[in-house]
Amino acid sequence: MSTAIPVNSAHLSEALTGQASPSPLQFAFTKKTGAHANHGKREALSGEQAREQLTKQLANKDASPRPRAIYIHIPFCRVRCTFCSFFQYASNQQMMDDYFTLLEQELIAKSRYPWSQAKPFDAVYVGGGTPTDLNPEQLNRLGQLIFTYFPLSANCEITLEGRLNKFSEDKFQAALAGGFTRFSFGVQSFNSKVRRAAKRLDDREYILERLQQLTASNSATIAIDLIYGLPHQTPQNWQQDLQDVIDSGVHGVDLYQLLTFGGSGLQRNIDAGREAVPLSSSDKALMYQQGHQFFNQRDFKQLSYCHWASHSREQSRYNSLVKQGAEILPIGAGAGGNINGYALMQTRDIEAWKAGIQQHNWAFEQLSLPAENAELKAAITSACDKGIISAKVLPNGHELFTHCLPLFEAWQKNGLVNKENNSVKLSLAGQFWSVNLANAMTSYLQQYPLKELALAE
Ligand SMILES: C[S@@+](CC[C@H](N)C(=O)[O-])C[C@H]1O[C@@H](n2cnc3c(N)ncnc32)[C@H](O)[C@@H]1O
Ligand code: SF4
Repeated sequence: MSTAIPVNSAHLSEALTGQASPSPLQFAFTKKTGAHANHGKREALSGEQAREQLTKQLANKDASPRPRAIYIHIPFCRVRCTFCSFFQYASNQQMMDDYFTLLEQELIAKSRYPWSQAKPFDAVYVGGGTPTDLNPEQLNRLGQLIFTYFPLSANCEITLEGRLNKFSEDKFQAALAGGFTRFSFGVQSFNSKVRRAAKRLDDREYILERLQQLTASNSATIAIDLIYGLPHQTPQNWQQDLQDVIDSGVHGVDLYQLLTFGGSGLQRNIDAGREAVPLSSSDKALMYQQGHQFFNQRDFKQLSYCHWASHSREQSRYNSLVKQGAEILPIGAGAGGNINGYALMQTRDIEAWKAGIQQHNWAFEQLSLPAENAELKAAITSACDKGIISAKVLPNGHELFTHCLPLFEAWQKNGLVNKENNSVKLSLAGQFWSVNLANAMTSYLQQYPLKELALAE
C-alpha cells in the first residue's frame, strides 16, 4: 500500500528513534548500523542479461543529471594492518607491474564508451589497498592516462590514496607532474605504540616530519585518516593525536570509528587474549566528542560528521559525491561503481578480472537495478552526513519534511537533533549516530510512505 498514513509517534520503534538516555551520545543506539543498510531488496541481473543491460547503458551518450566520478582500485599492500578489511594482496613488484599493464588497458577501453565521454567527471579517486606503493613512473603515467582519456571538469579533484611509508619525494613529484591534486594518507594514529600494535610501519616522528614536508611544499591538498578505538589508545594519547594533526599542517582530516569484524588480525588477537577487548561504542563516542570539540573550537571547517578541513583547498569532493549518489565509473579488480543507477562491483580476483579485460568484458558478479527512490535515499544520506536535514534538499521537500515530523520530534526528545523551521540540525550525539539516523529516516519512509513517492514497502 502506498497511501499516506497519519503516524502516531507512539508507534515509532526505538530502532528508528533511538532511546531516551542521559547521554544520547553514548547510548541513543547500541551500535552503528551499516552504511548500506538493506532498505528493501534491490533486484539484480546476472550473466548475459547483466552484460546486455550494462552494454546498453554504456552506449547511452545522454548523460544523467547526476554528478560523476571515477574510482580506480589498486589492491596491494606491503603489510596487512590488524584492523583493516580492505587488504586484498601482498605487494609484489612483478604482480603490481602486471596489474598496472592491465589496468592501463582497462582504463583506455572504458574511456571509449559513449557514456564515458558524455559529460566531464568531477572527481577521480585512486584508492586501495595502497596506491602509493606504485612506482614513480606508474604514478605519473596513471595521472597522464586519466587526463588523456577522460573528460574532466575544470577543477576536477584527483586523489591518490595510500600511506606515508616509502612515499619518497620522487614519488610525490611524479604524481604531481601526472596531475594528482590531492593526497589522502592513512595515518590511523600518530602514537608509535598504537601504530606498532596495529602493524603500522614507521613511527610518529617520521610521520609528522613527512607530513610537514608535504604540506610545506604547498603543491597539493594533503588529507589524513585517523581511527579512534584502536588498542592502546587512551583519551590522553588521542588528544596528542589531535594536536599532531595541527602540527602536521594537513589540510583535512577524517576521524573514523574503529569497526571490528571477524577474521581480522585484531579480532584474532582479541580472541586469543593477546589484545585487550576493544573499546565499547560508548567509549568510542567520547573519543568522537573529543575530536569534534577539538577541531570545532579551532579554525577548522566541518565538512561532514567525520571530516574537518583546515583550509579551503580541502573539499573531499569524491567522498561527498559518493554520498550524494553520484555515478561512479569503476576501474580495477575490486572496484565498485554505478552507471546510470545500475550498481556493480568488479571481481576482486585478479585472474578473473584479467580474463575479463582480455575478453573485452567487465568481470563482475551481478548488476543491481536502480534503487527505488534512489534520489531521495541519496539526499537523506548526504544530509545526515553533513549534519543538517533541510526541506529544500529533499525531493518533494516541504511535504516530505512535514511527513517526517513525528520522527524528528522523537529524535529531538532523545537529544539527537534540534528542530528549526524547515530543517533539523544534528546535535553532536546525532552526528555520532548519523548513519543510524539516515537509515532510520529511509526505513521510516518505507513504513509510512508518502503517496506521491510510491516508496517500496
Ligand atoms: C582503504 S584504507 C587505505 C589506507 C591506506 N592503505 C593506509 O594504509 O593508510 C582507507 C581507510 O579506511 C580506514 N579503515 C580501514 N579499516 C578500518 C576499520 N576496521 N575501522 C575503521 N576504519 C578503517 C582507515 O582509516 C584507512 O585509512
Ligand atoms: S590500512 Fe591500508 S595498508 Fe593497511 S591493510 Fe588496510 S589498505 Fe592495506
